[in-house]
Amino acid sequence: MKFGDLSVKKHRLVIGGCDTVELAKKYGTPLYVFDVDRAVGTAKAYVDILKREYPDFTVCYASKAFSCTGIYGLLAPLGVGADVVSGGELYTALKGGMPPDMIYFHGNNKTEEEIVYALDSGVECFVADSERELYLINKHARSPQNVLIRVNPGVEAHTHRFIQTTTIDSKFGFSIPDGTAEEVIRSLGRYENVRFKGIACHIGSQIFEPQSFDIAIDKTVDFIKRLNTLGIQAERLDLGGGFGIHYIEQDKPLTPEQYMSNSVAHLKEAIARSGIKPPRLIVEPGRSIVGEAGITLYTVGAIKTIKNVKTYAAVDGGMFDNPRVMLYDAQYTAVVADRADVENTHKYSLAGKCCESGDILLDGIDLPELKSGDIVAVLSTGAYHYSMASNYNRNLVPPVVAVKNGQSSYMVKPQTYEDLTRNDVTPVFAEDKV
Ligand code: LLP
Repeated sequence: MKFGDLSVKKHRLVIGGCDTVELAKKYGTPLYVFDVDRAVGTAKAYVDILKREYPDFTVCYASKAFSCTGIYGLLAPLGVGADVVSGGELYTALKGGMPPDMIYFHGNNKTEEEIVYALDSGVECFVADSERELYLINKHARSPQNVLIRVNPGVEAHTHRFIQTTTIDSKFGFSIPDGTAEEVIRSLGRYENVRFKGIACHIGSQIFEPQSFDIAIDKTVDFIKRLNTLGIQAERLDLGGGFGIHYIEQDKPLTPEQYMSNSVAHLKEAIARSGIKPPRLIVEPGRSIVGEAGITLYTVGAIKTIKNVKTYAAVDGGMFDNPRVMLYDAQYTAVVADRADVENTHKYSLAGKCCESGDILLDGIDLPELKSGDIVAVLSTGAYHYSMASNYNRNLVPPVVAVKNGQSSYMVKPQTYEDLTRNDVTPVFAEDKV
C-alpha cells in the first residue's frame, strides 16, 4: 500500500481506524496487522468488475498468499472461492467455512493422501499437473471428478525469476509448445473418473504489465481452438493470479478493475478471433487481495553506527516473519508509527534479529531519527509474510490482528515457547536403556 492510503492522526499511523502505537502496546511486537475492509473491498472489486464485464466467472482467492481460517469467512460470503495447494490449505479453508464446491486444488505434486482427502472433501475441481496425479484421481474418485489441466504456454512475465512460472523450463504445467499438453488431454479418455473441464495457467506473480496476461490469453485461447478441432471442448479457462501491488514508490500497479478490464477485453477479442465458445473465466488473485491490507509492526531495539558507513536500527522481527527480502530482494516502505508525517532526516538499515548477516529488512531507508523503543511499520506485508513465516532461530511467528472501524481482534493468536517444543521428542534407542 502507499503511505497515502493510510491515515495519520496526531502524527500517528492509523490502520483500520486503529492507532498503530496503541496496537503495538496492546498486542506486542512483532505484529502483523490486517485491515479487513481493505481486503474485502479489493476482493469485491474483482467480483463486481467481472459481474459487469464477463458474468461467467469465478474468483478463487489464492490461499498461499495468506491462509488462516478467518480469511475464508471473509471471502466466501462474497462468492469468492479458494485455490488451495496442499492438504493443510484445504483443511484450513474447509475449517474456515469455505464450501468445498468453491475450492480448486492446485499443486504440481499432490500426494496420494492429499488427493484422497480432496476427493473425500468434495472439492469442485483439481488442477492437474502430472500424469501421476491424473492416474491417482482416476484410481480414487468414485465418480467423474472435474479436472483442469495446468498448461505452460511459455510466457516470460517481467518479474523476479523465482516467481515466474511459465518459462519454458518451469516445473509447472504441461507444455503447449512441445505438444505435451495436447497429448495429455487427448489421452484423458482412458480415465473414466476424470472429467476434463478446461485448462489453467499462471504466468507468475507481482506482474505489472497487462501485455504478459494478453500473451497468455492468446496462447491459451489458440490452444482451446486447437482442442476444438480435435473434438475436445474446454469449458473453463483459469488464468491464475499474479496481479502486482504497491511496495515502493517505483511500483505502479493497476487496480483490480484495470487488470480485469484489460484481460476481459483481450479475452473477448481472442474469443471473437478464434471462434471458440466463451469459456468460464477463473482468476486467482492472492497477493492483490491481501497484500496491501497488511502491515507489520516492529519495535526498534539496538541502534549501531559504523562510522562513515551506515547506521543499523535492529528490530524485533526479521527473516522469520518476512523471508521475502532474502528470497527475492523484495523492497518495502517503512514508517515510524508515532512520527508518521515527520520529515525523514536520517538513513538507516533496518536489521532483523536473526543470526545471519543478510537478515536486513530494509537497506538504506530514509526515516526520522530513531531511538530504541520506537515502533516502525513496514507496509504491504499482508501477502506471503504470515504464510511464509518460520520459527528460524526459534523466534515465534507473530500473531495476526485484524482491524476494522477502530476495533481490533486476533485473527491468528500468538505462538508460545511451549508451542515451539510441543512436538519435540528426545529420541530413545535400545542402547540408551542399558
Ligand atoms: N494461482 C496459482 C496457480 C499460483 O501459483 C499463484 C501464485 C497464484 C494463483 C497467486 O498469485 P498472486 O496473485 O498472489 O501473485 N512467494 C512469492 C509469490 C509466489 C506466488 C506463487 N504462485 C512472493 O512472496 O512474492
